[in-house]
Amino acid sequence: MRFLSTYQTGARRCCTMLFQKNAKSIRATLMSTTAAAEESRKIVKEEVFELDGRKYTPDALYNLSPGVRRLLDRRILQESSNPLNLLKRRIVDYVHQTYRKPGNRSPLFTICESEPRVVTTYQNFDSLLTPEDHVSRRPSDTYYVNHEHCLRAHTSAHQHNLMQSGLDAFLVIGDVYRRDEVDRTHYPCFHQIEGVRLYSKDELLGKKPDGKNVAELFSTAASAATERSPEKQEKHTLDATKAAEIQLKQFLENLCDELFGKDAEKRWVDAYFPFTHPSWELEVFYNGQWLEVLGCGIMEQKLLESAGVTDKIGWAFGIGLERIAMVLYGIPDIRLFWSKDTGFLSQFAGKMPGEDVKYKQISAHPQVIFDISFFLPSTVQFNDMTSDVYDTIRTVGGELVEQVKLTDEFENKKKEKKSQTYRIVYRSHERALTKEEVNVIHKQIEQSLASSFGVTLR
Ligand code: PHE
Repeated sequence: MRFLSTYQTGARRCCTMLFQKNAKSIRATLMSTTAAAEESRKIVKEEVFELDGRKYTPDALYNLSPGVRRLLDRRILQESSNPLNLLKRRIVDYVHQTYRKPGNRSPLFTICESEPRVVTTYQNFDSLLTPEDHVSRRPSDTYYVNHEHCLRAHTSAHQHNLMQSGLDAFLVIGDVYRRDEVDRTHYPCFHQIEGVRLYSKDELLGKKPDGKNVAELFSTAASAATERSPEKQEKHTLDATKAAEIQLKQFLENLCDELFGKDAEKRWVDAYFPFTHPSWELEVFYNGQWLEVLGCGIMEQKLLESAGVTDKIGWAFGIGLERIAMVLYGIPDIRLFWSKDTGFLSQFAGKMPGEDVKYKQISAHPQVIFDISFFLPSTVQFNDMTSDVYDTIRTVGGELVEQVKLTDEFENKKKEKKSQTYRIVYRSHERALTKEEVNVIHKQIEQSLASSFGVTLR
């Protein structure tokens, strides 16, 4: 993660790190230098910048490229056939089912999915105790609208406000923006799920039969341990820190088991974030390598205090969705999440969040699309026809058929006529198909349907 990799002193910087910053040179190489490309990259600063129903006045710091403006308009997390949407639903369903309010009648975690994506620099940095000179504040790293506002660089930017509004357990889900390197796993926009849980003394430490607590949340001068150490913050007792750590790690290990299976090997690694202490990353061994899947820690008490929470302690975590989706669904390149190619999207459309889906590489050649419409023989039912049609198209069209979809079905009761329309997407893995050659195959499919099943082409 970015905070980790920028703070860490070399030792454990491995190439799988999600927010690692080492490839600016790759970006430079990839940038085309043609005049047209130059033009399309120009920063266009308007009088007013509007996003998510709010207006901002850009100033000299404004640095949103046309490319990033376009990404803001496309909400891929909301698109039901996007794998990120599938993964999001899987995580939310799991958390809702597993963590319930006392009495089991309602989910414990509030889901916050519509926080505005422009945040103040206070929200993105200061509230999270990010040092004044931290690299993440540079305009070369963050998309600024003006001196006070930027695109959120992480969902942590909402922690402060949501705690202030009284929430004790919530997930914040959304798109985040960073001026990062360009490679297989980095894109200016990606998606995160933030989790926060606050505990009162009774909730975290329980009560003895005599009504007293076994331990305290906060250390006092009398208890001596008021110093910050690698194990704990100055204000916390070691007991409370350990209790919260156990809760946090259990929550995340169980979530990982749910996603990657119980047999997947996991390990905890010490980490650093300005807003948590102690902090960890969870790594999962997958396809022969250790992958960081999330960052987390015990929330800095100062953060809680500034949000008006004085009698609780809490944990927070941040998960990068693309990283997990690439592993889970076998998606080799982050750009694919933005693909509008139905060859990609159709592989995820209509799937259940818990289903095992493995992405099959789509062809780089263009699609050719043809529809087929016919009346069914009067004795045949809609359902019975469909499988025969799929089989016939596969048999005749072979490897050139990428997708088939039933797009329309209607019955004219008076005339006793049932009609269906199918859309066939043709595409070859080897070459670009011409309309003419596809038409020949399409005609063969029509003939085969007519002669085998007695349909009347329309
Ligand atoms: N916001 C951190 C990042 O994006 C992740 C994180 C969230 C770490 C919450 C700790 C607690 O890198």
